[in-house]
Amino acid sequence: MDGDITQSQEWAALGKHQEELAGRHLRELFAQDPGRAGRMTVTAGDLYLDYSKHRATEETVELLVALAERAGLRDRVEAMFGGEHINVSEDRAVLHVALRMPREAELVVDGQDVPADVHAVLDRMSAFADRVRGKEWRGATGKPIETVVNIGIGGSDLGPAMAYEALRDYADAGVTARFVSNIDPADILGNLRDLDPETTLFVVSSKTFTTLETLTNARVARSWLTGALGDDAVARHFVAVSTNAAKVAEFGIDTANMFGFWDWVGGRYSYDGAIGLSLMIAIGPGRFREMLAGFRAMDEHFRTTPFERNMPVIMGMLGIWYTDFFDAETRAVLPYSQRLHRFPAYLQQLTMESNGKSVKADGTPVTAQTGEIFWGEPGTNGQHAFYQLLHQGTRLVPADFIGFAEPHEDREGMHDQLTANLLAQTSALAFGRTAEEIAAEGTPAGIVAHKVMPGNRPTSTILAPKLTPSTLGQLVALYEHIVFVEGTVWGIDSFDQWGVELGKKMASDLAPALTSDEPPTTFPDPSTERLVRRYRELRG
Ligand code: F6P
Repeated sequence: MDGDITQSQEWAALGKHQEELAGRHLRELFAQDPGRAGRMTVTAGDLYLDYSKHRATEETVELLVALAERAGLRDRVEAMFGGEHINVSEDRAVLHVALRMPREAELVVDGQDVPADVHAVLDRMSAFADRVRGKEWRGATGKPIETVVNIGIGGSDLGPAMAYEALRDYADAGVTARFVSNIDPADILGNLRDLDPETTLFVVSSKTFTTLETLTNARVARSWLTGALGDDAVARHFVAVSTNAAKVAEFGIDTANMFGFWDWVGGRYSYDGAIGLSLMIAIGPGRFREMLAGFRAMDEHFRTTPFERNMPVIMGMLGIWYTDFFDAETRAVLPYSQRLHRFPAYLQQLTMESNGKSVKADGTPVTAQTGEIFWGEPGTNGQHAFYQLLHQGTRLVPADFIGFAEPHEDREGMHDQLTANLLAQTSALAFGRTAEEIAAEGTPAGIVAHKVMPGNRPTSTILAPKLTPSTLGQLVALYEHIVFVEGTVWGIDSFDQWGVELGKKMASDLAPALTSDEPPTTFPDPSTERLVRRYRELRG
């Protein structure tokens, strides 16, 4: 929108509404209107969202929707899907939604037939994945590939790593995947330790192919391989995923074995394209395409559903509600699924690299708090760790609970126990226990206060039938669009990440000072200088 959103009537109306609602407890809201449990729900594809346990009424949703309209969300969605250069600081289109468009879709952006190019890459990936899975693509000594090691970091790691863990039940061709990201040698060396070079394929994934961690790990992997099998083995054991063919060739990987993407795909939005190659090899092209169909279902929902029934809009605007009107700082994401144990880490990059910004798209300072801090762990592990703070701490932590009706495997009713825990937690968080209720149970007076559960702690519950490639795609697209909704209201560019550059440059400037025999000369600051000296002493 033109002007400052925080000066709009819609923003002011929400501020006033918050003052009215802040003193009201969820117990009261439900007592006055039990029907909200049925009405404050939406369905998108296979996902069912219950948002009735939020400190919100239907009036709140109306006011939030009005704010979204005022922020120009409608036009902005069309601008993204239409390929406009909405990533202004990098002058790029933002087209991760094109990675899952159908083959017959029509979209020409900057002279590029986008769906045709996307499907050409998907087809090459599929053919390659089938060859590896079918034992047709073999290592240099003729043995089939048993392990794929994805070497990448950030968006070139977290997406495929998260999705591989989520979809391991679908890895049906005897090929397992591993993910190496950290510049800490423990990562690559620990992963290589029990691998056989003859049956290992490395997928070096880097949008830029200049990332220090990835190229260093890839060089270590290459030495490990060539040390065992000779230089000629590289061609059968290394493929690349990148936008930078020149750098791929410079590294020594044949660009015939490179799978490309484009500058209009942000790293953190890229695993449903070529960055997902390791995942595709593990689960197969058919399952991968089912996942893309799941993404697409959520894209269609986001693009076409009225805002008041639109899941990403409702969840994104509730994020604005708590961040900017209740001063909440964080959002917990709590999947009741061990398979989703990397989902919070994945979301941290998706959401925080996107919306952790202090200036608007036009370069002027933001006027509202931006960028929710995402964190979480799978239930029930989190319950025995940090839920104490969620229930009785002084901070407001809105939380997303994610559950699935059908398990992939079960023993002794464990899955129902898991779900019972999810449901119990959201109910306890919302309704709590009063001092009177606790005293009535015969609790000694001295500890009643300690046992009071304040309640009024907001949660969303997302329920899906089963964790499948399709539901995973729907879930990831849901959060991609939540990021988009929030970024639009804050007026920021959610698709650049300039904040990560300075630290990278300084690390490469500092590295020689850590290893050189010469006394260090220049340092960025006195504290860092002392730390370098101490490090050198300790390292000897
Ligand atoms: O950390 C910054 C970043 O650029 C991320 O945005 C990106 O996902 C990651 O580094 C890896 O970049 P690349 O895929 O170019 O190696």
